[in-house]
Amino acid sequence: MVRHMTREEIFGREESLVKKVGNQGCCYLGKIVTYPAGRYEESGSVYLDISSPHCMLVVGKRGTGKSYTLSVLAEGFGMLDTDIRERIAVLIFDTMSVFHSLKSPNTNLDENKRLGDFKELSPRDFREFVKVFLPKLAIEKVKEEGKELDFDEVLVLPLSEINVHDWLSLLDLKPTEPVGVLLVRVIDSLLGKKEAFGYEEIYKTMEQEKADENVKNSLLNLFRMIEELKVFDRHGTPFEEIVKGGTISVLDISYLGRIGGFDVRNLILGVLGRRLLSERTLYTTLEMQAQAHLIQLDDRSNIGKDHPLVYMVIDEAHLFLPASQKTLASDVLIDWIKLGRHPGLSLIMATQEPSALHETAFRQSDIILAHNVTANDDIAALGKAKQSFMSGSKDIQKIVSTMEFKRGLAVLFDDKTRKIEMVRVRPRMSLHTGIDASALRK
Ligand SMILES: Nc1ncnc2c1ncn2[C@@H]1O[C@H](COP(=O)(O)OP(=O)(O)O)[C@@H](O)[C@H]1O
Ligand SMILES: [Mg+2]
Repeated sequence: MVRHMTREEIFGREESLVKKVGNQGCCYLGKIVTYPAGRYEESGSVYLDISSPHCMLVVGKRGTGKSYTLSVLAEGFGMLDTDIRERIAVLIFDTMSVFHSLKSPNTNLDENKRLGDFKELSPRDFREFVKVFLPKLAIEKVKEEGKELDFDEVLVLPLSEINVHDWLSLLDLKPTEPVGVLLVRVIDSLLGKKEAFGYEEIYKTMEQEKADENVKNSLLNLFRMIEELKVFDRHGTPFEEIVKGGTISVLDISYLGRIGGFDVRNLILGVLGRRLLSERTLYTTLEMQAQAHLIQLDDRSNIGKDHPLVYMVIDEAHLFLPASQKTLASDVLIDWIKLGRHPGLSLIMATQEPSALHETAFRQSDIILAHNVTANDDIAALGKAKQSFMSGSKDIQKIVSTMEFKRGLAVLFDDKTRKIEMVRVRPRMSLHTGIDASALRK
């Protein structure tokens, strides 16, 4: 019993490293749940490594606590020791404006009371680490309505980061149709100059190309529609602002869900993910060479902060990496999943339906946190993707069949160490605002 009280489980970390550094660089996730003599009991603590590369998956039906758990993890980054935190940049793709509230302390009385049972935590905000980025259109819309909005920076991406394939796919054009042919020529020509360019240059280059007037007009109209979205321009939000060691960047793209019929959200993720992959890969190569004394890196003291490891957090991940079709973000995400660990690129993805998410995400993820997976289909889906979960010493079916509905209850799997544990995710210190809209009065 006493041993139980102090049991500490660390997920995502090999035993040898645990012996050396313990739970340093981990997020305190909550308590271990057991059923001694069939009675529900919470004890000990569960930690999750968030300072080395991982591919994590959070699954569960609507309203079971996925976004909540993602926020608990974000708070975990905010609570890391300064020197570790500054070597990590967190990038949250927020499709429902739920992560702004990391900037406010939790005001839910019930949660605040329970918080004390979890290592005596108390409500607080994470304002100093969180930066909210919003697209111009969303800001203008709110201003139009005479309302105030709290945000830190405008989210704009440079036109020069969008390649020919992105454009074809965004505008739904084939490289063999006349408009597609013109588009390829225009973009190739502009990208070839290796300089920043705006819509003026796009229109001018288009004018100079030889093509049918109808074709030119069609492409012109498409570009004007893109221009109106105000998401892409000559100069973007400085990349170093979006991806910064020690900062949790919340990219609120909720307003951009298939706006004007264009899948802008996926393009944003695709562009940023691709840029990070190439930068981190190059940097890792340099770092390896420096370690081998082949080259000398100038300012070693700043390395962590200027070239942080990156954690990309994607809520509603099936929108970006669906099982059934390809999006503008699919290839980049699959690259991150398959190649990200070496250059230090991590993913935390949440989805309502395991089967709606691309299989690669399941097969390759090393940590899965499943909220209230009581349905046999879901358990079977998890088992199919990860056979190791079924062959461990503990029978997952048995664990899950005893599971009841409690807020924050989840099964946590570690693919590397083959650990399985039932966990009660702790209440948040900052405010949660993910409650579904309701017409009912409080
Ligand atoms: N660990 C937790 N502790 C306390 N309440 C929780 C916890 N997880 C979820 N909840 C409650 O459940 C609700 C739904 O959670 P949410 O994360 O928004 O669901 P979804 O899975 O749809 O993203 C939250 O508004 C919150 O009240
Ligand atoms: Mg959610």
